[in-house]
Amino acid sequence: MKATNKPPLRHLVNLQDYDEGEIYDLINLAFRLKEEQKKGIPHPILSNKALGMIFSKASTRTRVSFEVGIHQLGGYGLFLNSSDIQLGRGETIEDTARVLSRYLDGIMIRTYAQEDVEELAKYSTIPIINGLTDMFHPCQILADLMTIYESKGKLKGLKLAYVGDGNNVAHSLLIGCTKVGMNISIACPKGYEPHKDVVALAIGNGKSSGSLVNITSQPKEAVSDADIVYTDVWTSMGQENESNERLKVFAPYQVNQKLFSLAKPDAIFLHCLPAHRGEEVTSEVIDGPQSLVFEEAENRLHIQKAVMVSLMSEQ
Ligand code: CP
Ligand code: NVA
Repeated sequence: MKATNKPPLRHLVNLQDYDEGEIYDLINLAFRLKEEQKKGIPHPILSNKALGMIFSKASTRTRVSFEVGIHQLGGYGLFLNSSDIQLGRGETIEDTARVLSRYLDGIMIRTYAQEDVEELAKYSTIPIINGLTDMFHPCQILADLMTIYESKGKLKGLKLAYVGDGNNVAHSLLIGCTKVGMNISIACPKGYEPHKDVVALAIGNGKSSGSLVNITSQPKEAVSDADIVYTDVWTSMGQENESNERLKVFAPYQVNQKLFSLAKPDAIFLHCLPAHRGEEVTSEVIDGPQSLVFEEAENRLHIQKAVMVSLMSEQ
């Protein structure tokens, strides 16, 4: 039998597994694919490859951008609602990984526990892409870094202020920013800070990249002199029963024009979306001239195509 020269299997489970050079490679590939797509130049790099997309939570951007993205690359996407497949009736992740590996060329999964994505990666023989867990949202942060680079022409040395809940998006921002030498300041209420293990990882990354990490309860301190102001919903998927309490706790953390004006005059506003206008951000800011939230949403498509090409083309 002929020996195969397949490169080692790679996943995107957590951005911590990627180094600065690999992040730039993805961003550069995404810019190329974006330009080609805009010019109508086809790029069927993943011709006939199949991407399974397992969802245990709702999605607009992730679902549509992955499905359209794999199609634009010449492949096809299968939407798999976790409650419609046997996974939702108790089939193990291990068996699901082994079976799906025999039909598909890659899996994108959005679910609750980060451990479930790690388990899927452990037992699958095809690339696994994390499309959001309670802990991380790596595809989002790659799109954010691409959007920041597109707007500012660099990443290193910029200051990103995140105001709000120390959630999955905050965690992946901590990792992503500190991989590329950006400074990050996070303002959240006491008791809603990012997980200490993620903060420790970010501080560790910063030792080699030069990034500074600051966690505070003061929104003004975080936003002061920031190049990017970022927020996310106060109640993430799965926390709906806490939403009344969260509305009260997070009220002082709204990104409004007064707070935003403390950032640099040319600061940009980002939000992973969906947004709750009037809660974590005012319409004035999110619909204002410095908001790039829809460019950011569009870049999900381009960066995820780059991720799929990098993970799936030689498998
Ligand atoms: N930002 C993001 O992941 O959006 P969806 O929940 O719509 O996929
Ligand atoms: N923190 C949010 C992000 C949605 C894209 C959530 O997990 O619901």
